[in-house]
Amino acid sequence: MATINKCLFPAAGYGTRFLPATKAMPKEMLPIVTKPLIQYGVEEAMEAGITDMAIVTGRGKRSLEDHFDISYELEHQIAGSAKEELLAETRAIMESCSFSYTRQVEMRGLGHAISVGGKLIGREPFAVILADDYCVTEGPGVLAQMVALYERFGCSVVAIEEVPKNETYRYGVIEGVEEEPGIIRISNMVEKPTPEDAPSNLAVIGRYVLTPEIFDILDNTPPGKNNEIQITDALLTQAQRGNAIGYKFKGRRFDCGSVEGFIDATNYTFQKTQIEKQ
Ligand code: G1P
Repeated sequence: MATINKCLFPAAGYGTRFLPATKAMPKEMLPIVTKPLIQYGVEEAMEAGITDMAIVTGRGKRSLEDHFDISYELEHQIAGSAKEELLAETRAIMESCSFSYTRQVEMRGLGHAISVGGKLIGREPFAVILADDYCVTEGPGVLAQMVALYERFGCSVVAIEEVPKNETYRYGVIEGVEEEPGIIRISNMVEKPTPEDAPSNLAVIGRYVLTPEIFDILDNTPPGKNNEIQITDALLTQAQRGNAIGYKFKGRRFDCGSVEGFIDATNYTFQKTQIEKQ
């Protein structure tokens, strides 16, 4: 079975919930304490054995590229000082990973962004991380857990978590049969259903391992919810062929696309770093 070498980061969205902070800065650069969201995502991918990062950007997202590049003036300025250490992790990422970028010119949905990113992926299975879903775990990272499942099942894998029924309208929601504890063979998926229409309270969160047939399916998936091309709809086609599983990941996820989730993530991470320092 093909190994997962590439991770796609759809990062073209406007981040309107964080205006004015995101007026001239991508939401993926918002820091949890001192590290931007995108870097946590890249670190999670690396931990899953992935070294090729493919980022779908858009207008106003240049700083994402600059973040994973040398900053000569700054680095010259802090060379030899204690501050150099603060860039060590970022430098290590740059040394062991490759980064490629493409732009989503029109905002036509997450499915469309993944399609656009397909040019960077080619014809192989790949991972997707939505960096504003920030995940923390005690053992292996969420993506590493999912790659292990892909290696067992050889089909698409989506991360899921139980949410209160009145919040289903914010997520893709799945339905299926629990084949093993925490592993659900998906039979139905609905993008952002009202609580009345939701088939369950199992919500998709921003981690996917996808097989390359998803690109052909996306090409033939019409716009769905909000007139956007939805990855949920393409995954439903895979699910109807028996080729998609949902996985109740081990760990905690913060919705950093919302101000409240972002603040919770910040407080959690700050407290954790304080404890580690002691
Ligand atoms: C996207 C997906 C949705 C998924 C969510 C996870 O929605 O369309 O199915 O549940 O990510 O964060 P978005 O949050 O981009 O509106």
